[in-house]
Amino acid sequence: MPIDHAEIVETLVTKEELDRRIDALAVELSGSFEHDEPPVAISILKGATLFLADLTRAMDAPLEIDFMAISSYAGGQGGSGVVRIVKDLDTDISGRDVLIVEDIVDTGFTLTYLRRTLSERGPRSLQTVTLLDKAARRIVPVPLEHKGFEIPDVFVLGYGMDFQGKYRNVPEILAVKDVARLANDPLILCDGLFGEAG
Ligand code: IMP
Ligand code: MG
Repeated sequence: MPIDHAEIVETLVTKEELDRRIDALAVELSGSFEHDEPPVAISILKGATLFLADLTRAMDAPLEIDFMAISSYAGGQGGSGVVRIVKDLDTDISGRDVLIVEDIVDTGFTLTYLRRTLSERGPRSLQTVTLLDKAARRIVPVPLEHKGFEIPDVFVLGYGMDFQGKYRNVPEILAVKDVARLANDPLILCDGLFGEAG
């Protein structure tokens, strides 16, 4: 029996809405760095990579790009609030203007940890841009200088964000309506989103 995708996911942010919002964010950000030396955009692997690629291409300003990977001991989203660095930056950010590029801020534990860790390295300035802000789920209040969309308390996938490692390359953002069904069969959406082979 063919699967009715509409029972499991629905589009939350279309590709066109992403393009338009990211263009506006790029203008906002290009005007927010006033020094000669290009800022360092730090993207958190892996979820923020698609956003980083589109955002930085849309920015009319020179900048450097570096990556960091972190993992939460809770193993999923949020949880214990204990975060550790899996891959550190290659760049010395001391005295630099730093822009953290995040896909989604949920409980706020990850971003709080990142801001504290990066602040200790003495950057000249530190600001964050997140594509999505799940503000209703915040446990730790954390500054968010720039954001794309505020979204309700739903699990999302696509445009860099995954469900058990899958669906990062879906070009729009989908909200999962039936998490239990997806957890039971994580590949259930492949046929249809990506064609027969999945
Ligand atoms: P926080 O520490 O709870 O703010 O979690 C932030 C991280 O959890 C994000 O960078 C994502 O990797 C992950 N996350 C939170 N909510 C979602 C979601 O709805 N879909 C996919 N990943 C999520
Ligand atoms: Mg992330």
